[in-house]
Amino acid sequence: MDIQTLTAAVRNIPDFPIKGIQFKDITTLFQSAEYLRGLSDILYDRYKDKGITKVAGIESRGFFMGPATAIRLYAGFVPIRKFGKLPYKTIEEKYSKEYGEDIIQIHKDALNENDIVLLHDDLLATGGTMAAAYRLVKKLGVKKIYINFLIELEKLNGRALFNDDVEIDSILKFEI
Ligand code: PRP
Ligand code: MG
Repeated sequence: MDIQTLTAAVRNIPDFPIKGIQFKDITTLFQSAEYLRGLSDILYDRYKDKGITKVAGIESRGFFMGPATAIRLYAGFVPIRKFGKLPYKTIEEKYSKEYGEDIIQIHKDALNENDIVLLHDDLLATGGTMAAAYRLVKKLGVKKIYINFLIELEKLNGRALFNDDVEIDSILKFEI
């Protein structure tokens, strides 16, 4: 499946959810069996040789391809959720994102130093959300972390929030 076809399958919605945001609607890609399989194959190929033990996905749009990728990699899946949703003991991080502020949490016993983690979300905008998720995973003692996005908005330069030692990969790239 070529990247251009998948990129064209993403629908752009201007001024959603607020004025000035060019919302990237991935439902138009997901609803095609062919494109969904193509996307899943790309994710599998990129991470199959990395020894990933857990995929950690960020609520809520990281819950689409996160678990799907975990199944294909024979890895576990760990949810990183918005404040107040996880039932057991948690640690948390506050962050600002493209539009607003939020808190995310992870279960304290979800990951440990022996895990090799693929942190996944649908979109990299300012990077605030993923940077907070990265801090959470680090706090649990994980030494090796890969970061993946389905979409990167390159002009917002979210990558700048991360050090060079972390491998960040996005599948589809848009300017804004
Ligand atoms: C969106 C998107 C990413 C984040 C990217 O999630 O799914 O998680 O914003 O923005 P950033 O790089 O500026 O942090 P959002 O919190 O809007 O909610 P959702 O995933 O629950 O739809
Ligand atoms: Mg999100």
